Amino acid sequence: MPKPPPAIPDAPAELTADWDHELAAFGPDPNAPAAAPPTEAPGPLASARAALERLSTWVPIRSLARRHRRRIIDHLLALDPQDRYLRFGYPASDEQIRKYALSIDFARDEVLGIFNRRLQLIALAHLAYAQPLLGGEPERAMAEFGVSVLPQSRSRGLGRRLFDAAGLHARNRGVDTLFIHALSENRPMLRIAAAAGALVERDGGESAAYLRLPPESFGSQVEQALERHLGELDFQFKRQAQVLSEFVDSVAEVKAHFESSGRAAKE
Ligand SMILES: CC(C)(COP(=O)(O)OP(=O)(O)OC[C@H]1O[C@@H](n2cnc3c(N)ncnc32)[C@H](O)[C@@H]1OP(=O)(O)O)[C@@H](O)C(=O)NCCC(=O)NCCS
Repeated sequence: MPKPPPAIPDAPAELTADWDHELAAFGPDPNAPAAAPPTEAPGPLASARAALERLSTWVPIRSLARRHRRRIIDHLLALDPQDRYLRFGYPASDEQIRKYALSIDFARDEVLGIFNRRLQLIALAHLAYAQPLLGGEPERAMAEFGVSVLPQSRSRGLGRRLFDAAGLHARNRGVDTLFIHALSENRPMLRIAAAAGALVERDGGESAAYLRLPPESFGSQVEQALERHLGELDFQFKRQAQVLSEFVDSVAEVKAHFESSGRAAKE
């Protein structure tokens, strides 16, 4: 359970404007030149236009459910001891990983994943929502973000995409602060958080990052719905392609079998 967040200064004006532009689910690009301040208040049309722009650099992110536990476990077991240490804060054993995966509460939390063409889960994020306080709304709703990307798929922006998507989901659930607990040596993770505008607090070997989220909007809801449908479509498409490829392989196998038995019969 994370400690209560410190007072987070409001995001810089240009960042707020960007969020208010409603389609910042994938976050500001740290390499992009500073955006010019908007000349007019963003309306639904401007939001839709921005959504289409963002789709051009789209990465399919899928919401995972209980039935994906096996893939989640396989993904985490594929991490080496150092990555497990960075991900969990200790070098989790296979058993601890299985326990962790079995303990994910899919009814409360959200798990997001990115699959490759062979349907291997190459990137995984867990967005853990704080338990609601009994007897009323918590003063500050918070969600904790944890992520892992398989080594061969790193430095392609997948970690950052999952972070931004998690921010969008949390925002649409009424959460106002995204919390990340990371080891201070974890430069990629802290870089992702800082680039999104998070306040990073170092405490020796450990760091805590707090990202203040803007309130949900019509645009943020539309973007999440789009992302969900497209992520599902992408997964089904890859599955069909895999089934087709297996079918072609088995036809080729049967053909080869008949050809060799035909040859044997002739001989
Ligand atoms: C942290 C992690 C998820 C990042 O995934 P990723 O897909 O490689 O991340 P991205 O490509 O989106 O971005 C990483 C950023 O860190 C930077 N980076 C990468 N390696 C770095 C390094 N050794 N030092 C400093 N920055 C580094 C990248 O340049 C990039 O920044 P940029 O967008 O400004 O260029 C991945 O390294 C990982 O799975 N690590 C093990 C588990 C873990 O540490 N989880 C986080 C704790 S919750």
